[in-house]
This record gives sequence, C-alpha cells and structure tokens, in this order.
Amino acid sequence: MAKPKIRLANIGITFRPRQREPVVAVQNISLSVEEGSIVTVVGPSGCGKSTILNAVSGLLTPSTGHAEVDGKRVDGIRHDVGYMFARDGMMPWRTALGNVEFGLEVRKIANRRDIARDWLRKVGLEKFEGHYRHELSQGMRQRVAVARTFAIDPDVLLMDEPFGALDSQTRLLLQELFLSVWESTRKTVLFVTHDLHEAIFLSDIVIVFTNRPGRVKSVIPIDLPRPRLPPAELATASEFRDIYARIWGELRDEVRVFE
Ligand SMILES: Nc1ncnc2c1ncn2[C@@H]1O[C@H](COP(=O)(O)OP(=O)(O)OP(=O)(O)O)[C@@H](O)[C@H]1O
Ligand SMILES: [Mg+2]
Repeated sequence: MAKPKIRLANIGITFRPRQREPVVAVQNISLSVEEGSIVTVVGPSGCGKSTILNAVSGLLTPSTGHAEVDGKRVDGIRHDVGYMFARDGMMPWRTALGNVEFGLEVRKIANRRDIARDWLRKVGLEKFEGHYRHELSQGMRQRVAVARTFAIDPDVLLMDEPFGALDSQTRLLLQELFLSVWESTRKTVLFVTHDLHEAIFLSDIVIVFTNRPGRVKSVIPIDLPRPRLPPAELATASEFRDIYARIWGELRDEVRVFE
C-alpha cells in the first residue's frame, strides 16, 4: 500500500475573533491521502473545508492536532504545495505566459519560459500566451491557473472549488482537462467541491464532513476504473448512480440543518 503523502492527525480548529464568540470550525479530523491519489472533501457550507486546506498549506496552525506532508509536520507555509481556488488569481499586469512563469521565477527555476510555454500548450492556450487577464474568458483564466499550478511541479495540490466559478459546460471540460493532466503527473490531490458529480468523476475517495463543527462522517471509496469515462457519460452508468445516491444519502442530513 502506498504511504500517506498528506495526513491530518486529529485536527481541531477554533477561531477566536475579537469581541465575538469563538467558532469551532472543525473537530477531530483525521484523514490520509495516499501518494498519487485524489481525495475529495464534500460537506455543507461553513463546515471547515477551506480551513483544513489552509492547515495543510501551513497558512493556519490548528488549535489541536497537526497536519503532515511527506511524514513531516506542517509548521509554516510550504512551497512544495500548490493551491488553486475558484478565483483565478491571475495578475492583470502580466500576460498569460507571465502568470505561469511567476511561480517559477519565485523558485528561481532556470528554463522557466520553456516550462511555462509547455504548460500553456498542455491547457490549449499556446495562441494566447501574450494575452492579459481582461482579454481571456473565465474558462481560459482557469486554464491559466491549472497551467500555473502544475508548472511549479508541486508534490501536493490543494484545490478549493477550483471550477466553482465556471458555467456548467466549461466546468465539464475543465474537469476533463484537469484529470488528463493529473493522469500524466499523478500528483497527490486534496480537493474540495460542492459538486458531487465532480467529486465522483475525479476521486479515489470522497470524504463527507458533518455540518459545523466539521467532522468526518463517512469515507467512501470510488471504485470506478481509471482512466475515467468523460463526466457526462460516467453520469449515466449505474455504478455512478449508486455511489451518488450513497454520498447524497450521507450529506443530505447535514445540509438539511439549513432548511
Ligand atoms: N479567519 C477566520 N476567523 C473567524 N472565523 C473563521 C475564519 N475562517 C473561517 N471561519 C469560520 O470557520 C467556519 C468554517 O469556514 P470555512 O471557510 O472553512 O468553511 P467551508 O466549509 O470552506 O465553507 P464553504 O463551502 O462555504 O466554502 C465558518 O463558520 C467560518 O465562519
Ligand atoms: Mg470554502
């Protein structure tokens, strides 16, 4: 069995805003992500999904427990961890190529132009390398973000609803693009989404969190062969529908708190 690349050991996180009640965001979170696999967390809004990604990246120190990457305790911001969000994060004063190059510059990588071009080609944007943010569609910006994230060759990828701001068709295409890039790199990915189709299509394991304070409610293996069918086709398979029903069955009671 592969060793865990990411491990969360009994993590609890309580925010203590000044002059307000403390907020217990997550409690007793233990989970592992095996090297080269994709694990996705789903759960109601506010249950602490983004918070645990922040703990893995070192942006935030847990109140109890700890996170590990590669068997080492996370105790500060790590540069071997890539982070991707719903907002594309493109710098408007840099071209698409310049944006992909940025992370390589920070890491003082020598042949950064070639690497950045290669990644822009992989996401189908080679003809747009000189374009600025305002000259690109939302889907293209998110493709730049995919290129930028993979270009730095991170050991671990944290993805917080990375396709959440896209229309549903562009989203399907980006999911396929992401998975094909992942197939060739086999990065270790901890992914967060509200989209159960996306979670099943991408993941080896889906973890359902409870309502806040977030705890692990269930761990559901996705035993579908890889490479996966395209998302629209996969959605019609009976195995897919069974897994979907199981995850929604677990999640429904947690989301219902808001009804
Ligand atoms: N810096 C902070 N200070 C105080 N409270 C915070 C802070 N960051 C997050 N929280 C609180 O922690 C809880 C978890 O927030 P988090 O952003 O992790 O939720 P989430 O599961 O990612 O939700 P969503 O699905 O809406 O993105 C929320 O109640 C939020 O208000
Ligand atoms: Mg969030």
